[in-house]
Amino acid sequence: MSRIRSKKFQEKVTSAAEAAALINNGDNIGFSGFTGSGYPKELPGALAERIKEAHGKGDEFRVGVWTGASTAPELDGVLAATDGMSFRMPYQSDPDMRKAINSGVTDYADIHLSHSGPQVRQGFLGNLDVAVVEVTAITEDGDLVPSSSVGNNNVYLDCADKVILEVNAWQSEHLEGMHDIYYGTELPPNNVPIPITAPGDRIGSPYLRVDPEKVVAVVETDDPDRNTPFKPLDEDSKAIAGHFLDFLNNEVAQGRMPKNYLPLQSGVGNIANAVLAGLLDSNLSGLTSFTEVVQDGMVELIDAGKLTIASATAFSLSPEYATRMNDNAAHYKKHIVLRPQEISNNPEPIRRLGVISCNGLIEADIYGNVNSTHIMGSKMQNGIGGSGDFTRNAFISCFVTPSVAKNGDISCIVPMVSHHDHTEHDTQVVITERGLADLRGLAPRKRARLIIEKCAHPDYQPMLLDYYERAEKAANSLHTPHILTEALSWHARFLETGTMKA
Ligand code: COA
Repeated sequence: MSRIRSKKFQEKVTSAAEAAALINNGDNIGFSGFTGSGYPKELPGALAERIKEAHGKGDEFRVGVWTGASTAPELDGVLAATDGMSFRMPYQSDPDMRKAINSGVTDYADIHLSHSGPQVRQGFLGNLDVAVVEVTAITEDGDLVPSSSVGNNNVYLDCADKVILEVNAWQSEHLEGMHDIYYGTELPPNNVPIPITAPGDRIGSPYLRVDPEKVVAVVETDDPDRNTPFKPLDEDSKAIAGHFLDFLNNEVAQGRMPKNYLPLQSGVGNIANAVLAGLLDSNLSGLTSFTEVVQDGMVELIDAGKLTIASATAFSLSPEYATRMNDNAAHYKKHIVLRPQEISNNPEPIRRLGVISCNGLIEADIYGNVNSTHIMGSKMQNGIGGSGDFTRNAFISCFVTPSVAKNGDISCIVPMVSHHDHTEHDTQVVITERGLADLRGLAPRKRARLIIEKCAHPDYQPMLLDYYERAEKAANSLHTPHILTEALSWHARFLETGTMKA
């Protein structure tokens, strides 16, 4: 059966090149796509060709690109390579995109993912000229079956002047029914409570809506998602997972958490995925998750019967697990709910459900301030993503990281972070392969000693302790002692010499 079950939409089928011809210089485009899943596969490439052709003739052609989160070489990669992207929001992780941002070619607004949809609705980002959204199918009634991510698609479909749909036959037809698209959010003062009281609650419709009059083209594709493999588990990530589990089990033993924990959130990246693998070896059951992305580790927990329900906005799977998902989507939809990112990452249910957040970081300082985004203060890595949505609102906010990066030349625990994403007020637990610092209830000086003792690498522990003890003597106050002329000297040394070591 055709994936395009509505005759009205069948009549709009065209090629990616013809659809790209409907996009103009200066347009803002709202693309689907979240952590390498559910992004349009062919239109961005056709648009990149159109931009290159215009540039070849000496014509101006630049577009603003809005998405759910990161996409793939077929979207961020090809468009960044044209130097034709004037603006990008709210999150990315593509090497070419990163280059365009860090070389100043593309302006990047690094926005909390739960804020991005509502900010589009407010209108200060400008007019949304086109939405380009991948779907799994179009129903007889013209409703859209979302694909492997929802992201901001509901917002882009509602707000855009024109809509281009890609219907991707690679996505499993059994995804139909997995999604929960809630249309109850409004801008203040008309907003109402989001009626989610358990991670698996379904409060909306399985379908995205679109005004058929706005749909200017439908493109048929059959292409896989990006599906980047995770790095194999190493001893450090196993140790980090072990510390995290010991901590959670102690919370249970202290009577502060039920036996099956509270809903877990697991961030993007290799370490966060490794933490999930640690749960697999436990004898836990009845776990739940209220999170942003479903990674390999979560699928394994479902298969093992340990995780009963996962609420997210997208998949972030390796090729092997994407195949497993496509082969068994009918089964997985009993255990997975995919929602718009303004709901999956919304502070209100995160706080109400008592989510335990667990995210990666670039560096943390001795007081627990966290930099998730910038290398050496200036260079964008990926973006804040949903880490702020969860960290600020979780019941317990944890960060995980190896104690060192770049073969030991960088300490991930530093005297002062070179960029602030999460403040010491939000960070409750810091975990490295060395150990875990439970910072809850501690004043800054106690936090500093604990982080240095439990989390820092032995190569940097004496240097950190030396800094801290001299700061206690030299600072103008004993609340949060710093030597301002020295606090960022480790970063400066790395930039000068290639190592933070003295
Ligand atoms: N200085 C310089 N580079 C550093 C660094 C530091 N202090 N710490 C890590 N890095 C580098 C690593 O060397 C690695 O580089 P490579 O890709 O060249 O090998 C890269 O950053 C990724 O680090 P890795 O240790 O593999 O961790 P990860 O895959 O777990 O990613 C973040 C860590 C912080 C980049 C990632 O978690 C992120 O983007 N977080 C922000 C968004 C977020 O938290 N989203 C979740 C919300 S639900």
